[in-house]
Amino acid sequence: MAGKGIRALIPELLPPLAGEALHARVARTLREAIALGTLTEGARLSGHRLLAQQLGVSRNTLVDALGTLEAEGFVEVRGRSGTRVCVPPRLAPPAPAPAPLPLSAWATRALAGKVADAGGEYLVDFRLGQSVPELYPARAWAQALARRAATPPTETQDDPLGPLETRRALTAYLRAERGAVLTPDMVMLTGGTQSALDALARIFLEEGRRAVIEAATYAGAKSAFLATGASLFPVPLDEGGLQPAALPAQATLLYATPACQYPTTVTLGAARRQRVLEWAARTGAFVLEDDYAADLHHTGRPPAVMQGLAPERVILLGSFSKSLAPVTRSGFVVAPPEVIRVLAATRPLIDRSPSVLDALALADLLASGTYTRHLRGARQGLAHRHDILLGELRQHLPTWQPRPSRAGLHLHVGLPPELSESEALAGAQAHGVALTPSSAFYGPELRAGAKNDVTSPTLIQPSVLLAFAHLSPEALRSGVRRLAAALH
Ligand SMILES: Cc1ncc(COP(=O)(O)O)c(C=O)c1O
Repeated sequence: MAGKGIRALIPELLPPLAGEALHARVARTLREAIALGTLTEGARLSGHRLLAQQLGVSRNTLVDALGTLEAEGFVEVRGRSGTRVCVPPRLAPPAPAPAPLPLSAWATRALAGKVADAGGEYLVDFRLGQSVPELYPARAWAQALARRAATPPTETQDDPLGPLETRRALTAYLRAERGAVLTPDMVMLTGGTQSALDALARIFLEEGRRAVIEAATYAGAKSAFLATGASLFPVPLDEGGLQPAALPAQATLLYATPACQYPTTVTLGAARRQRVLEWAARTGAFVLEDDYAADLHHTGRPPAVMQGLAPERVILLGSFSKSLAPVTRSGFVVAPPEVIRVLAATRPLIDRSPSVLDALALADLLASGTYTRHLRGARQGLAHRHDILLGELRQHLPTWQPRPSRAGLHLHVGLPPELSESEALAGAQAHGVALTPSSAFYGPELRAGAKNDVTSPTLIQPSVLLAFAHLSPEALRSGVRRLAAALH
């Protein structure tokens, strides 16, 4: 191979391609030689006349070919000192594989829990986790942000709990709407529920500790807990939600979704709530109450939060990422003062404080009643789509068993006994429809095979989840008809 300053060995002209001009063929020959490494970085090509001779072409043809290669960055023409080969970075020999990163145990565990999204384009996409543009109060939010952005906030920007003004507005809202028992110093604003889960997992969990979860639950919570090295203890579910009798004798915390069990949408009744709180008092475990769907309750009023019954044991988690705008990344934790003190003291290690501007805009929306009015409209829209989907399923897939839901953005639908989740998915897919299987919410601790031992037959009955809030009434109808054509 030719090295720097050494005259390069000129390859033979490649066979012509159909309709290819001679100068293009010369350029292709030299380009391929560079790509293959026959001509290497810095190699000097002969003068034009000699090079044309070597290739068996005219000087003009050669000059045209070199012009093309120069424009592409494969050669550099340096006047008298001749033409030199340049190897563009994408053709440079691959760099040696980097040494493995010295990842912490936390990062290794966090990466192990990641599940790749199946992706794909569908005619009707019922999968969970899609944004709902109709829930975004664009004008009100833009006005509130613009107003707050125009004047420098007078609040201290460094309060790790977030601006007091927002915590006051939120306190009033949660007392009135959710029956929560709190003062503003029990509130920390977060970047959504996920950052709250992470912060709580960090301060409470580690190897050798146990987090109790509902047998089917939110992957974001499981991942945050598992990343700490703690173990998960899944509590069976039945038609009434989590079964208090199956709670373990000892645990550090319980993560639950009592208002609207995720993903089965069951509401936990008063008697079971009481038993869960008795268990928490007995064991000293904290209950992490994820109230994710409360503001998206579309039928009647949601039950008051468990936190109001035991503010010293229950940590309430809420988020505006669905009911307002996912882009705001706004949420909150309500916790006993001694827990808030630890959260406040450890937060500066991670992000100092929440976004003050977003928090102040949120305060405006809450205090002015704009948020409540926005929810009124949003709930009507959700109820309408929920009812369309339910009606269509009952009419066109009468053997499927949708569970009417009072809150949230999806329906939990039992499949008929002869149909497995994977068959339902494959059939739907073949007709351009995407679904979420319920089994996606079990495990990894349950997927391994323990599923049947810990979950009652009603809820492990093969079932799928259909998100409805992001779909138009026409899309909902067409989606169900496609499912019926595929699977009924
Ligand atoms: C059960 C549950 N909790 C909380 C959230 C909200 O999380 P975040 O505020 O981090 O977006 C979601 C969103 O999908 C959820 O499904």
